[in-house]
Amino acid sequence: MVILREKQTLLSKIATSDQHGENSPYFDGWKAYDQDPFHPTQNPNGVIQMGLAENQLSLDLIEKWIAKNPKSSICTIDGVDRFKDIANFQDYHGLYKFREAIANFMGKARGNRVTFDPERIVMGGGATGASESLIFCLADPGDGFLVPTPYYPAFDRDLRWRTGVQLVPITCKSSNGFKITQEALESAYEDAIASNIKVKGLIVANPSNPLGTTMDRETLKTLMSFINDKNIHLVCDEIYAATIFNTPDFVSISEVLQEMEHDPMNPVNPELVHIIYSLSKDMGLPGFRVGILYSYNDAVVSSARKMSSFGLISSQTQYFLASILSDEEFVMNFLSENSRRLAKRHKVFTQGLEEENITCLPSNAGLFVWMDLRRLLKEPTFDEEMVLWRLIIKDVKLNVSPGSSFHCVEPGWFRVCFANMDDQTVEIALDRIHAFVGKEKGNEVVTRNNKRHKPFEKNLRLSFSSRLYDENTLMSPRIMSPHSPFAQSPLVQART
Ligand SMILES: Cc1ncc(COP(=O)(O)O)c(C=O)c1O
Repeated sequence: MVILREKQTLLSKIATSDQHGENSPYFDGWKAYDQDPFHPTQNPNGVIQMGLAENQLSLDLIEKWIAKNPKSSICTIDGVDRFKDIANFQDYHGLYKFREAIANFMGKARGNRVTFDPERIVMGGGATGASESLIFCLADPGDGFLVPTPYYPAFDRDLRWRTGVQLVPITCKSSNGFKITQEALESAYEDAIASNIKVKGLIVANPSNPLGTTMDRETLKTLMSFINDKNIHLVCDEIYAATIFNTPDFVSISEVLQEMEHDPMNPVNPELVHIIYSLSKDMGLPGFRVGILYSYNDAVVSSARKMSSFGLISSQTQYFLASILSDEEFVMNFLSENSRRLAKRHKVFTQGLEEENITCLPSNAGLFVWMDLRRLLKEPTFDEEMVLWRLIIKDVKLNVSPGSSFHCVEPGWFRVCFANMDDQTVEIALDRIHAFVGKEKGNEVVTRNNKRHKPFEKNLRLSFSSRLYDENTLMSPRIMSPHSPFAQSPLVQART
């Protein structure tokens, strides 16, 4: 640790700042999983990863398409004749076929109610890279962006860390389903002004991570009027646009813009509106790092394109995606089958929770639920939320994410991801929750509905100590004992 600190004095402020957010509980849960990952046969008592918003439910459909279309890759015998061309391509506008296919896909993901112009598509390394480039275009260090809470924890990293902007919370509460109100918007804006922060914009994730809800048309109109009144930018992260599995339908800001642009009563300036998109969620391809910035502002498109040199999508990936996304029939089937599978998984998971009297915020989108465990807190405090969270990781062995890491103002909410695992693992997670809420019979785990675990699970023993946690086993590197196994981990050393 001492050596690392000495070495850090040679580095930049950005490199050594803690604005990355890695010290938040969100990452601590991942460390716990990394140390003891669940595996059905090799580590059946390990931690199940429910903190990862990844969609693994429909990758088989993409695999089948690849098997039928070997020419789509330049690294196969069938596709190698395009290898030289594509491997040499490096224009930061991107392959036209790719931009065209992505623009079409963005339209399909929004029910074809709106179209997108390939000339406005700017590439980024995932939504992460695309959103950082956008912030670099819109603001200077110290400027502020309003963000409704609870929000995706990595916004602190993606939007704030290297750009030096500040995120100003808009407080949303459970009493109205965490909806953004005009009053909350105005109050956050006033707070920023009172703190001498120059507000450059408003950033929302719609559908929301972590809530799994979509914004209604009226709310979107309120946001649009608000940013026009204040003459600030509106950034809509629509990364879950097609990850919708229930009514109401998703409404994109692009639809609202289209509507309001032609409304003389409500004039809006399209140049203030920017959309962040990615294929990480809707296609389940986070490893491909396909991020898109779509801006209605020509100057932003032009400067962001120059910045995109730092996070381009490889031409091999562009080429492959241009092929698969141009297959209209495949895309339509993929989107509807993916929604169907998500709906089924969501139902199994939420019904399993309901059997234990655990409710979630009603949701229609995303890869997670916003689980309400407020009644399990001894007191409604964030300290008690941490106590419960540690118990869930250490004893129940589920890595869920506490609401505090999403800047939620009410203690007791947890985000639980449900699409990054197979059916059997979901059942095991539900059985562990069942045991946790006190229905286990003696030492033997009796599963829900008297179903039996598969043989590899029969050794699972859950015991919940009345002692809630032990100082020596805390997960956080900030408060961890030097003797903890985590202290030896190069991963943690590199991060502290
Ligand atoms: C709301 C939101 N924005 C951005 C991202 C980052 O996505 P990407 O993998 O495309 O960088 C995520 C990932 O979880 C997200 O949930």
